[in-house]
Amino acid sequence: MTEVPTHTPSAVELADLELLLAGALAPLTGFLGQSDLSSMSRTGKLADGTTWSVPVTLTVPSGLAEHAELILTDPEGAPLATVTVTERWPVREGRVGIAGPVRRTGDGGRPPFARLHRPAADVRGSLGGDRVVGFFADRVMHRPQIAQVVQAARSLAADAVVLIPVGTAGPDGLAPEALIRCILAANDRLNGATIVAVPLPHRGNEIHDALLRSRVAAAYGVTHLLAAGDMLTGGGPRVIVSREFAYDARDGQWRWRDDVPDRFQRDPLTSDEINDMLDDGVTLPEWHTPPAVARELARARPSRRHRGLVVFFTGLSGSGKSTIAHAVADEIRESGTRSVTLLDGDVVRRELSAGLTFSKADRDLNIRRIGWVAAEVGRHGGIAICCPIAPYAGARATARAMARSAGADFLLVHVSTPLEVCEARDRKGLYAKARAGLITGMTGIDDPYEVPTDAELRIDTSTGTIDDGVKVVLNSLIHGGWLPA
Ligand code: ADX
Repeated sequence: MTEVPTHTPSAVELADLELLLAGALAPLTGFLGQSDLSSMSRTGKLADGTTWSVPVTLTVPSGLAEHAELILTDPEGAPLATVTVTERWPVREGRVGIAGPVRRTGDGGRPPFARLHRPAADVRGSLGGDRVVGFFADRVMHRPQIAQVVQAARSLAADAVVLIPVGTAGPDGLAPEALIRCILAANDRLNGATIVAVPLPHRGNEIHDALLRSRVAAAYGVTHLLAAGDMLTGGGPRVIVSREFAYDARDGQWRWRDDVPDRFQRDPLTSDEINDMLDDGVTLPEWHTPPAVARELARARPSRRHRGLVVFFTGLSGSGKSTIAHAVADEIRESGTRSVTLLDGDVVRRELSAGLTFSKADRDLNIRRIGWVAAEVGRHGGIAICCPIAPYAGARATARAMARSAGADFLLVHVSTPLEVCEARDRKGLYAKARAGLITGMTGIDDPYEVPTDAELRIDTSTGTIDDGVKVVLNSLIHGGWLPA
C-alpha cells in the first residue's frame, strides 16, 4: 500500500477547507481548477455557468503534485480532509495548483467553540421561515447593533442569524474566542437569533472578502443581509442597508435615529470612546451595553493597569538600551505593582537563542523568539521588557503584531544614541574589532540598522542621562495607565 502524503495548507486555504466541508461554499465541493478560474476571471462564472467570483484555491509543493490523493492536515499535523486531485498546474517556482473535491477524514482541527461551527445545511434547516436576516458580527454587539438585528428581523417577520467571522483578530483587536464570548453574552437580547462561527480570515482583497461573506451567508440560509451600504452580493442575499440607531431617553429604547427627537437622542459611543473607557477600567454604561456584554468585554480587554504590555527597546549596541531597560524593570519590581520579565539581548542569546549567528535570518529568528515569549508574558497580564538591537523593521513589526494578537499593548522605544557615541563608548570592544576587520556584520558598521518610523518613544543617551531616559519611560507608563501614579 502506498501512503497518501500529507500537506498543511495556509491559513486562508484551511479556512476555505473548513467552509467547503461545512457546505458553506455551496455549490462548490472542492478547490477550483484552472478552467474554472480562467472562466471566472473573464465572466464571473465557473466553466459550467455557475455564478462565482472568488478564487478558492490550493497550492502545494511540486513534490506532492503527482499523487492522486492528498491528506490535508491542521498546523499540528492532525488530518482534516482528503483531496482527490483532478487537476494540477504550475503556479510558480516549486509550487503547483491542485484542484479537486474534498471529503472529511480524521478528527483534527477542532476549533475553540466547535459547537458554533455548524454545517450550513443544519443551520439552514433549523430556521423556520423563508425569510432570514443575517448579520456579520465583526465586533462586539452593543445595544445599537443588537437593536438593529432584532428590529430588522421583527419588521420582516424573519428569523435571524448572527455570523461571527473568525480567523483573524477583528478590528477591536479581540482574539476570536473573546469576540465569540462577547457575542454569546448578548445572546439573551437577540430574541433567539442563531449564532454561528464561520472561518473567514481576511484574504487581502476586500471585494473577495465581501463576495465570500455574501455566499457564505446564503449557504446558511440568509435571505436578507444587514450590512453597510456598499456590501457586494454577487448572487447572494438581498442587502438591507443598516440605518443609524440612537438611544431614546424617553423610554430607554434604541430606535432609528430619525424617529428620536434631538433632545432625547443619545448617539452610540464611538470605538475610541469605548476603548478609552476600557483602557481606564470604566464600566461601559448600561444604556449602551448590556451588563453581561460589558463584563465579558472588560475581561477580554482589561484596563491598562492590568493588561499585558510589551516594552520593546531597539537601538545600536552601546546605545544604552539595556541599561535603561534594566533600570525600568528594577523600578517596577521595587514598586511591586506589576510582574516583569526582562528579555535582555545578551541573556536571550545565551538562554533562548544559543547558536544563532548575526545573519539577517538568524537576527529575525532571534527577534521572533523574543517577540513570541514577550507576547505570552503579555497574554497573562505581565509586563515584558525586551532590549535586543532588533535592527530590522519587519521583525519589530512581527513582535508588535504578536503582542497585539495576544491582547497585549506594545510600546516601541527607540534608543537613538548616534553611532559615533556608541562607538566611542565601545564597552565590549566590538566596534574596534569591526573597524579592524576582525569581525564582520557588526550593526552600524557593516550591517544595517533600519531606523524605526513607528517608535512610541525616542531616547538619546548622548544628550540626556540614563536616569532621564528611565524617567521618560516610567512617566509614559504612568501616563498611559499601565502603572499607578
Ligand atoms: S539582534 O540583532 O539579534 O537584535 P542582539 O541584541 O540579540 O542582536 O545581540 C546584540 C549583542 O550581541 C550586542 O550587544 C553585542 O554584544 C553582540 N554582538 C556580537 N556580534 C555582533 C554583531 N555582529 N552585530 C551586533 N552585535 C553583536
